[in-house]
Amino acid sequence: MDIRPLTIEHLEFRLAEEPGCQRNWFVPHIRDLIRYQPDGCFALCDGDDVIGMATTTPYQAVGWIGWLYVDERCRERGLGARLMQAAISYLQNAGMRTILLEAVVEAEPLYRRLGFRRQFITQHYRLDAAAVSRSAEDDGDLRVGPFDKAGLDDIVALDHAFFHQDRRRLFEIVIENENFDGCSVSLSDRLIGFMWWTRSEHNRQVGPCIIDSRNPRPNCLLSVLLETAFDMDDQPLYLRCPMVDSDRAALLVQCGAERVDYHTVRMYLGEPYQAESPGVLSLGCPGKG
Ligand SMILES: CC(C)(COP(=O)(O)OP(=O)(O)OC[C@H]1O[C@@H](n2cnc3c(N)ncnc32)[C@H](O)[C@@H]1OP(=O)(O)O)[C@@H](O)C(=O)NCCC(=O)NCCS
Repeated sequence: MDIRPLTIEHLEFRLAEEPGCQRNWFVPHIRDLIRYQPDGCFALCDGDDVIGMATTTPYQAVGWIGWLYVDERCRERGLGARLMQAAISYLQNAGMRTILLEAVVEAEPLYRRLGFRRQFITQHYRLDAAAVSRSAEDDGDLRVGPFDKAGLDDIVALDHAFFHQDRRRLFEIVIENENFDGCSVSLSDRLIGFMWWTRSEHNRQVGPCIIDSRNPRPNCLLSVLLETAFDMDDQPLYLRCPMVDSDRAALLVQCGAERVDYHTVRMYLGEPYQAESPGVLSLGCPGKG
């Protein structure tokens, strides 16, 4: 058995095994991560057979591990841990001081054994077009804009203030993804919020969604973003809210989002990491924050 750089062709093993894995969403998503860090995405191979995968997404000091998967017939033999070790070593050699991941609860013991600690719960929410509640506050001075290449400087700067890493290179890649879309909101030409999502078969996976938490009308900002998202497309939104505090979840509920009976767990390895600031209302897809 050996670990090799992951390619698009390798993904077939997982598509064949997991009926719920939607090709049109999954393949472009992993393609983005391979483009971002070609030698940091791994396939575990047994001869010609692919039996596992994992991705890494390093920024400057913080790196993510995502998409860990082992063929069902090969589980509980330490192969998941082996792939994790490869990903951890890669990120440590790349100079990352903190490694993050978003864990399904069933996998928490595996990550704990490797030294990861729990940071917070990420609660999942769903929002349907018909359920969006409009804020009573006046939003007349807020200007809605696209999430596009022309506005990327402002988006990267706002994102940096909340995630503390420069994620421009990843944004430049994901913005080309055919499933990607997003919108932004400004006040007096200053960007104060944005939301992006990737479209899947049943919903749109939101993340990140950020609003400037210093603004006195967070409810109004969020509802403007949500209304714009539903003007663009009526597919439901799926949000992953970092429960560092309860205020941000309350904000989602006030805007009509419904709590899904499902959560994941944010875990970290290495130096303690400053948790996402209050204005971060939804995290991105696993493996990139
Ligand atoms: C998670 C996964 C990669 C582990 O692979 P593995 O080769 O069995 O891993 P190891 O043998 O090194 O470790 C086993 C650990 O897997 C975890 N695990 C067991 N069942 C699991 C499940 N249904 N889903 C997720 N993780 C599971 C447990 O932490 C287990 O440790 P434990 O036996 O002490 O409870 C594999 O279960 C899998 O592909 N699951 C589906 C995808 C997934 O959930 N990925 C993780 C996303 S955060």
